[in-house]
Amino acid sequence: MKRTTAITPRLSRRTFIQATGATLATTSVLNASSTHAGAHAKVPAAAGGIIKVGDFTVRRMGYGAMWLTGEGIWGPTEDPAGAKAVLRRAVELGVNFIDTSDAYGPNTNEEIIAAALYPYPDDLVVATKGGFTRPGPGQWTPDGRPEHLRAACEASLKRLRLETHHVYQLHVPDRKVPLEDTLGELARLKEEGKIQHIGVSNFTLEQLRLAQGLIDVVSVQNRYNVAIRESDPVLAACEQDGIAFIPWGPLGTRTKESDALTKLQEIAGQRGISKYQAALAWLMTRSDAMLPIPGTTSVDHLEENVAAAAMRLNETEMAALG
Ligand SMILES: NC(=O)c1ccc[n+]([C@@H]2O[C@H](COP(=O)([O-])OP(=O)(O)OC[C@H]3O[C@@H](n4cnc5c(N)ncnc54)[C@H](OP(=O)(O)O)[C@@H]3O)[C@@H](O)[C@H]2O)c1
Repeated sequence: MKRTTAITPRLSRRTFIQATGATLATTSVLNASSTHAGAHAKVPAAAGGIIKVGDFTVRRMGYGAMWLTGEGIWGPTEDPAGAKAVLRRAVELGVNFIDTSDAYGPNTNEEIIAAALYPYPDDLVVATKGGFTRPGPGQWTPDGRPEHLRAACEASLKRLRLETHHVYQLHVPDRKVPLEDTLGELARLKEEGKIQHIGVSNFTLEQLRLAQGLIDVVSVQNRYNVAIRESDPVLAACEQDGIAFIPWGPLGTRTKESDALTKLQEIAGQRGISKYQAALAWLMTRSDAMLPIPGTTSVDHLEENVAAAAMRLNETEMAALG
């Protein structure tokens, strides 16, 4: 089996970013027309602009791979050919940030990503997660013990055929384990070169601030959409600190009916776009720190979602959505 040369492409890309003179220290997001993203402006995902995730620069419409699994996010997908087609089409559309986790399947989600996309394009960032175990379908148990994280991180490297994780996210804090211990192990794995950047997920603002006192955090992945905004303070912190905010559940498909969703549907109707596109347009307009990762098992839905990278709501629409 060919081993990945993950370190080499990362270096070559960094060199490329330096050569293009892309200076992103003070602003985390640029328009599609600026710097090297302009060279790829023909891919639909480029319309969203770009965002820094650590020292990676990715287009601001990602893809979440979780649904490419069996029922209850358990076991392999029943349609591996369809799953590979979705992943490959995402890359063709210019998506270069793909979210996964060892917990999806478990394991099978990372395996199908490698099966579909390895050897990875030079600019693709695969962001996996660790910190959950899966006793069965629909069951999720946090495990933040250092020994679990270490084993999980190393096993994910093998499945993804990487030498180093581009972005490794702590999937969830484990109340039974001091966060300092969990994050300390991730810091050690980074020092050892097994992780390039650390992200966190399902974090409160307090947990984020604690983490930032210990390690460099490049992203926060929390549930967030037009109807679920408990993470507004975390989003504000991400904006302030120039780190990416990755909303999960961005489309609001598993969110109970609300005034915001009804209003969003009306706006979608007026604009002649789908409610899913309107949900993504709201996120893209809401913050430049936003890196949505809508998930789908369908190429048609993928294309619809990525097309929303170009869509923004106007001031009146944003005000109506509160
Ligand atoms: N950190 C965490 O704890 C956490 C938790 C959950 C998810 N995530 C990540 O976040 C990603 C996105 O979150 P999510 O999957 O919960 O929510 P989502 O992306 O808002 O919704 C995905 C669902 O919407 C459907 N869908 C997508 N596009 C559609 C379209 N254009 N038209 C109609 N239906 C559409 C999909 O079904 P079809 O397959 O039929 O399109 C799928 O059932 C996941 O894939 C995963 O990577 C992270």
